[in-house]
Amino acid sequence: MKEQANILNGVIMKILIIGGKGTIGKKVSEHLSKKHEIVIGGRNSGDVSVDIADSQSIKRMFESIGNVDAVICIAGEAKWAAFDSMTEKDFYIGLNSKLMGQVNLVRIGQNYLNSGGSFTLTTGILADHPVALTTSAAMVNGGIHSFVKAASLELKNGIRINVVSSGLVEDAVQQYGTYFPGHNPIPMRKVINGYVKSVEGKGTGEIIRMYDNC
Ligand SMILES: NC(=O)c1ccc[n+]([C@@H]2O[C@H](COP(=O)([O-])OP(=O)(O)OC[C@H]3O[C@@H](n4cnc5c(N)ncnc54)[C@H](OP(=O)(O)O)[C@@H]3O)[C@@H](O)[C@H]2O)c1
Repeated sequence: MKEQANILNGVIMKILIIGGKGTIGKKVSEHLSKKHEIVIGGRNSGDVSVDIADSQSIKRMFESIGNVDAVICIAGEAKWAAFDSMTEKDFYIGLNSKLMGQVNLVRIGQNYLNSGGSFTLTTGILADHPVALTTSAAMVNGGIHSFVKAASLELKNGIRINVVSSGLVEDAVQQYGTYFPGHNPIPMRKVINGYVKSVEGKGTGEIIRMYDNC
């Protein structure tokens, strides 16, 4: 219970951020590193190598870094394409990476989290407001929302789990803006706060929606 007391008292946490060098991840990592110890995971970037689509790789990562107080995942892929062109294999990209990647991170990671720790997963606005070409990405996001609500009922030792679901973020407008007609980009400061709320707050089973009133 010592670790739990530390977390609640605002003491420095050891936080693993998968995807911490990505568009959203680097802003979240920069912010949280002002107060906490950060370990960044990625396939080809960060401090520790991990591919969340491979559960053996997740296990190896936790064995190498040891216990942490919080795990944030801001990684995971899904194929964007017209529904009538999507093959069964195309759907498995999202299922294996963004969906089961994050589920396996929690399934394996629960054994490496200090008591009172937390998981924060990432989905996105497509779960609630899909746009064209996103049958896979939207489906996977919705699945993660349901997983988080259900897992929060069963995680032990005071471990919490939430998911941040953001609209198109400001820093990704150049890359993806044309796919989101009429959407107002979400300021990075607001997105960062979704992760801060999950990690430093007390909520569990929450879908933290950072949308712009759509
Ligand atoms: N951009 C947006 O506007 C937006 C809005 C809402 C939600 N999201 C979601 O947020 C997540 C991050 O988006 P982003 O725009 O920041 O993406 P990004 O810039 O492509 O960054 C993704 C990061 O995740 C790592 N990564 C990717 N696949 C991985 C895997 N299988 N295992 C381990 N690490 C992996 C990448 O590093 P390596 O290449 O080194 O592995 C990279 O650091 C995505 O799931 C996205 O759908 C994005």
